[in-house]
Formats: sequence, structure tokens, C-alpha cells
Amino acid sequence: MHDYYPLLLVGGIIGLISVVLVVAFAMIKDKKQAIGFDRHMKDGEIVKRLMRYAKPYAGKFVFVGFIVLVGIAYDVVSPLLIGRITDLIKADFALKELFVLVAIYAGILIVSMVCTYVQAIVLQKVGQRIVSVMREDLFTHIESLSHEQMNSIPVGKLVTRVTNDTNAISLMFTSLLVNLVKNMFVIVGVFAAMIALNYELTLMVLCFVPFIVLFTVIFRKFARRAYRRVKDRTTDINTYLSENLSGIKITQIFNREHEKLRDFTDKSNALGKAKRDQILVFGVFRPLVYLLYISSVLCLFFLGGKGYLDGVVFLGQTLEVGTIVSFYMYISKFYNPIQNLAEQFNWLQSAFASAEKVFTIMDIEPKLIDAPDAIELKEVRGEIEFRHVWFSYIPDEWVLKDVSFHVSPNETVAFAGATGSGKTTILSLICRNYEFQKGEILIDGVDIRKIKTASLRKHFGQMLQDVFLFSGTIRSNILLGLEGVSDEQIMEACRYVNADHFIDRLENGLDEVVRERGNNFSAGQRQLLSFARTIIHKPAVMILDEATANIDTETEVLIQDSLEKMMNIGTMLIVAHRLSTIQHADNIIVLRRGEIIEQGTHQALLEKKGRYYSLYMLQFERERARLEEQQGNA
Ligand SMILES: Nc1ncnc2c1ncn2[C@@H]1O[C@H](COP(=O)(O)OP(=O)(O)OP(=O)(O)O)[C@@H](O)[C@H]1O
Ligand SMILES: [Mg+2]
Repeated sequence: MHDYYPLLLVGGIIGLISVVLVVAFAMIKDKKQAIGFDRHMKDGEIVKRLMRYAKPYAGKFVFVGFIVLVGIAYDVVSPLLIGRITDLIKADFALKELFVLVAIYAGILIVSMVCTYVQAIVLQKVGQRIVSVMREDLFTHIESLSHEQMNSIPVGKLVTRVTNDTNAISLMFTSLLVNLVKNMFVIVGVFAAMIALNYELTLMVLCFVPFIVLFTVIFRKFARRAYRRVKDRTTDINTYLSENLSGIKITQIFNREHEKLRDFTDKSNALGKAKRDQILVFGVFRPLVYLLYISSVLCLFFLGGKGYLDGVVFLGQTLEVGTIVSFYMYISKFYNPIQNLAEQFNWLQSAFASAEKVFTIMDIEPKLIDAPDAIELKEVRGEIEFRHVWFSYIPDEWVLKDVSFHVSPNETVAFAGATGSGKTTILSLICRNYEFQKGEILIDGVDIRKIKTASLRKHFGQMLQDVFLFSGTIRSNILLGLEGVSDEQIMEACRYVNADHFIDRLENGLDEVVRERGNNFSAGQRQLLSFARTIIHKPAVMILDEATANIDTETEVLIQDSLEKMMNIGTMLIVAHRLSTIQHADNIIVLRRGEIIEQGTHQALLEKKGRYYSLYMLQFERERARLEEQQGNA
């Protein structure tokens, strides 16, 4: 065997160096390159923030650490035992000792299996808990963002952050970290055991390591590229799907199903190809490592067998059959973790990228933060004043220019003007849905920036232009989580706004199911429900952005009637598209391109024969034509 000595020594040294290289490469080289996404945060910072989430479970992790030790011990000790057993069988067959060893082996095996099971259970629980806390934090944070900030982040992206990205992070806690640590210890442990057992054979094994390094380096390059491509294609198909499913009615109306299907097929095929490429990369890497494994086993049997049969004594070591058997097992226990490390570092990398994306969302400062000296509004009389208010969604593109007006308590004020003139914008400024740039808005004489936003919104009932219903029931949509309200009170509110007519006709009444966005109800019904929702929350000021959508005459009469009733509750600000609504207002403010051009009562404005007059005449003609048409149909 000494013929091979120099060769083995050189191989061994190269092998040792390359083990160090693999680890260094995996840890350092990749730090800066993320997967399909530019990383800005330092790994240290990400780890620190992740630790904060994991901290409450430190005890559990320590416990798992002990369990992992058992697993490592099993990996290191079991080949020794088997080797010893082999030697016993070969020798004079000491049955008793054999039984003892087999029993010990079985014992360790069972203990290690139980440990693996307990470890998986504990880690799953902890990992899922950590991630649900993170998901809740993320959701709470998203809820604190202002309308303006929400407009700038695509909803699909937020959904991905809350679901996919947190999942990638949970994988890290449930398996990645523990296995990474375990694998490293197993490599070290197995290596030490091999050296202790037979350094010659260990050197032989190390000769193969440079090849593993080479394969790993190449594999990681290809794997990352394949992974990025799969991720890009997945995002692609998701974006396409979410947009086209929302717009599927338009697709059907315009008979564009074939074209859309073709686009979709292209994207689907692209994703399929990316996945196949990814599998190919793994499909090449794993067999290659397996090839190395088989080669080293062959070498082991050749060299070891020759050494044993010839009874070679080298540096005082004689080879036993048991040693060869032990080595046979050690080789696989040495190769497996190395191969896994390469793959696990990839996953860890993507988990870090996900964590960074999640933290990036969490780092967006909510724009609307209550001033430290902000006050709580107990009661609101309902006086509203705009003083020289300027506002723009996009810097320097003024949407409201020097808007000033005054609303006394219990007054009803209507806003009129062409589409895009800034009516909705004015209403959303009052409740601080957006932050204005110049001027002042006062509620009961108090600057709204000095009022806690939550307490401000409590006193305002906002009925938006497009009514949004959540999936749930009629009841849950009216209450929106409000507690201590009886069904009788809900129905009373519904009667008040005339929503009882259609609710009574529903099979399940208040329990009738509302589907996503309320698409099983008509526009008019949705509007009435939003009125009921507002009334039940008893606001001091009501803000209504009337929908422009056409509503059947019957519902329109109901809406009109409930509007007139609501005007008596308190202050009401209303963007009305129907003249009948406007006429009842105490004051009408006419807007043009973000400026107030005239205001006064219906009568006064008509007499003035200005902008309002022409708007009115236009609408009057239109409504008369509509009425005539309806009579004709009837
Ligand atoms: N989120 C936004 N980001 C940027 N610009 C916006 C945004 N919302 C509205 N605008 C712009 O502000 C202007 C005023 O819009 P606003 O919604 O207040 O009009 P409106 O008077 O309510 O119109 P309509 O009668 O059609 O509801 C429009 O020119 C619009 O393009
Ligand atoms: Mg509007």
C-alpha cells in the first residue's frame, strides 16, 4: 500500500484545501448577488431582525440543538458499530458481544429516529409561529400605510410578500438552518472519525473532494440562473393571470378568448421550460456527485481489499474488514452533507432575499403619523372649513388650487363640476386619506393635522364612489366588525335607508352571502348597503361620493328618499350627479379644474346663469330624454 502514499498525501492536502474553499465560496461569494433582485440590506442586519422574531423561541432552538447532537452522534457512531459487528462475525463469532452490539445499534437507531421526529414537530411549530407573527406584523404595517402609499405599490406584490416570501422564511426556520448546522458538524465529525480509524483511507476519500468542489461551483452558477428564470416566469404568469381574471368579462364581451389563451399558453410554456431547465440542472449535478461517490467506494474496495488481503502494515495500521465496512458507510455520510450544503446555501440565499423584501415593506414609513400632541375628538359638531388648500397627487401638478369654503354644522353641501374637476379629491382630504400640501382644513375650528386620525375618521361616515363590499354576509358588511349591535338595530338602519326592501326579499336576509367585491348585488343595492353601513356607525358628518353608474328608476327613488333623510342627521358633504340630490343642498360648490368658480343655493346659482346654470341645463335635457325613453319603454 505504501506505493500509493505520496499520491494519497497530495490528494489529501488538495482535498482539505478544497473543503475550505467550498465553504468559503458558498458563504462569501454569494453575499452580494441576490436572486433576481438587488439586495441592499447587509446579511448581518437581516439576521439580526430575523433573530428578533426567533428570540421568544430561543429555548426551543436550544432543545432542538441537543436533539440534533443525537442525530450527529448517530451519523458518526453507527458506521463504527457496524464495522465492529462485521469484525466480530468474521472472527470467532462471539455471539454474546454481537447481540450487545446489535442491541446498542438498534437502540441508537430508534433514539435517532424519535429525535428526528421530535425535531421536525418542534421546528414546524416554532417556524410556523414565527412566520405568522411576521405575517401579522406585515399586514398591520400595510394597514397603516396611507392611500397615497398604497396607490404606489401593486397589490399583487403585497400579496406575494405576505404569502410566498413569508413561506420562504418559514422554510429557513423549520429545516434550513438546523440542517445546515447539522451537515457542517456531520462533515467535521465524520472526517474526524475517518482519520481516527484509518488516515490512509481518509486521504483516499479526500482525493475526490476537488471534483466535488468543481461540480458545486458550476452547479451553483447554473442553479441560480435557473432559479431566477423560474421565479421571473412565475411572476410573469401571476401578473398576467391576476389582471386577466379581473378583466375576463371584457375579454368575453369582445370575443378575445382565443388571443388571450394564446398569450397565456406562451407564458405557461415559458414557465414549463424554465422548470424543466431547473430540473435538468439538479438532474446533472446529483448523478455527478453520485458518480464520485461510487468511484470512491470502488477505490475503497480496491485499495482496502488489496491492503487487507496482502496484510499491508502502513504507519503501524493494519486494515480490518470492519474498517472497510465502516468507511463504506462513512463515505456516503460524508458526501451527502456536502451535496446538501450546496443546495441548502442556495435556498438560504433565497430565504434571505425574501426576508429582505418583507423587511423593505416593513421599513416604509407610514406617511400619516399622528402628531405627538394630536388630540382625541370626543364630540364633533360638524363645522368644516377649508382655508386656501392646495393639493397635488404628483408634485407640482396641482389638482386643488387655493380652495376655501365653509360648512356650518348640520348643513348639506353639494359639490358639482365636470369629471376630473377635483370633487372626490376634496372629500378624501377631509378624512386625511391624503395629506395636502398648503393651507388648512379645520373641523370645529381645530386643524385636522392636530387630531388623531382614528378619532377623526370615527366621526366621519365616508361613502365612496365605488362601493366596496367584502366577501361575507350582508350583516358582516354593514357592521364591519362593530360589536354589540342587534339584528333589530341593523334592520332599523336598513329601513331608514330603504335597504330593507331588497334584504327582505333575500332568502337568508341579513345572512345572505356576499361574494367577492359584492358582485352578486346590483350597483344600487350596493349603494344602499353602504348607506346602512354608514348610518349604523352613527357619524356626525356624512360624506357621500355618489356613484355615476346608472341605477334603475325604482332604486333611484329609494336612494333619493334615503339621501333626503340622511341630510337631516348631521352635516353632509355630497358629490351628486343627480340634480334632484343637488337641489336639496343648502350650498352648492361648483368646481372647475381644481378651483371653486361659484357657490350658492340652487336658486341663486341658476339666476347667476354661470357655469352651474349651463351644467344644470345640460343635465336637465339629459334627464328629460331619459325619462321620456323610459316612459316609451313602459
Ligand atoms: N390617485 C391619483 N393619483 C394621481 N392623480 C389622481 C389620483 N386620483 C385622481 N387624480 C387626478 O386628480 C384629478 C381630480 O380627480 P377627482 O377624482 O377628484 O375628480 P372628480 O371630480 O371626482 O371626477 P369624477 O366626477 O369623474 O368622479 C383628476 O385629474 C385625476 O386625474
Ligand atoms: Mg369622483
